[in-house]
Amino acid sequence: MPKPAIEISQLRKIFKGKKKTLVHALQDLNLTIPSGEVFGFIGPNGAGKSTTIKILTGQIKASSGTAQISGMKASNSRARISIGYLPENPSFYPFMTAREYLHFVGQVFKMPTNEIHSQTFRVLELLDLTQAADRPVKGFSKGMIQRLGLAQTLLHDPALYILDEPMSGLDPVGRALVKDVILALKQQGKTIFFSTHIIADVEAVCDRAGIIVNGRLTALEDVKDGLISQEGSYIIYIQTSHGVLESHIVGNNQLNDTILQAVARGATIERIEPQLKNLEKIFLSTIKSGLPV
Ligand SMILES: Nc1ncnc2c1ncn2[C@@H]1O[C@H](COP(=O)(O)OP(=O)(O)OP(=O)(O)O)[C@@H](O)[C@H]1O
Ligand SMILES: [Mg+2]
Repeated sequence: MPKPAIEISQLRKIFKGKKKTLVHALQDLNLTIPSGEVFGFIGPNGAGKSTTIKILTGQIKASSGTAQISGMKASNSRARISIGYLPENPSFYPFMTAREYLHFVGQVFKMPTNEIHSQTFRVLELLDLTQAADRPVKGFSKGMIQRLGLAQTLLHDPALYILDEPMSGLDPVGRALVKDVILALKQQGKTIFFSTHIIADVEAVCDRAGIIVNGRLTALEDVKDGLISQEGSYIIYIQTSHGVLESHIVGNNQLNDTILQAVARGATIERIEPQLKNLEKIFLSTIKSGLPV
């Protein structure tokens, strides 16, 4: 069995806040992302999305619990170079041009010079930055900066992409472009884990979505065409032994097997619903109540 692309277990992060207060940014987070999945990590401001991503990319340490990338500790340098990472607010040396910056990134990843040149050409084209490639980054618009941020994640052709709000600051054309890039990566079998507030973006590209509220995962949803269930199928809600409510879309013929497998792994069947539901409704109701729907 291949190791999952991402495996988060009982992850906690406590920051020191103002006046000796403690901020519980992550509370017993459990999440497994299999290789090849596109996963949307949705949550309101301050929910803990960037904290999770910073732990996964080895920038900060968890207070407790584990975070693994393809079976390696997230703090391991081999894990770090296997990731294409887009930070929440990408920033670049303002005096460098986009092309120079991408060459610089290629050198950091110890790519051969000919590959740096060919990959730079490819990713500039892909992110519609060829025209601007030889201009200093200081003159770039917010959307161009965001696209350059994404371009640098693609340069060394990693198998896993961890993107903190990849569609942020983009106009509709830019958003469509980024969605196409994500879908093309999926076609190539890559794994993509991205955070967002925008449910429509999750609906457009994701296989699954997780909702995080106050540092806790409150729901895990299969995503299909913007609906988590389709006519003729059921949504089965399963409470895991970690207290996370999972939902799965199953057809009549899969219902029995899904129930048996859930019970075998120590989970309990919460409920089964034969109805259509949309992700936005789930998101809003889980945020409002702070509880799984
Ligand atoms: N370095 C830090 N020191 C203290 N508190 C922090 C620190 N970093 C994050 N936090 C707190 O941890 C919580 C989670 O923050 P995080 O940045 O992970 O949220 P987020 O889901 O990414 O939010 P947003 O959608 O606004 O980007 C917040 O309460 C935040 O104030
Ligand atoms: Mg954030």
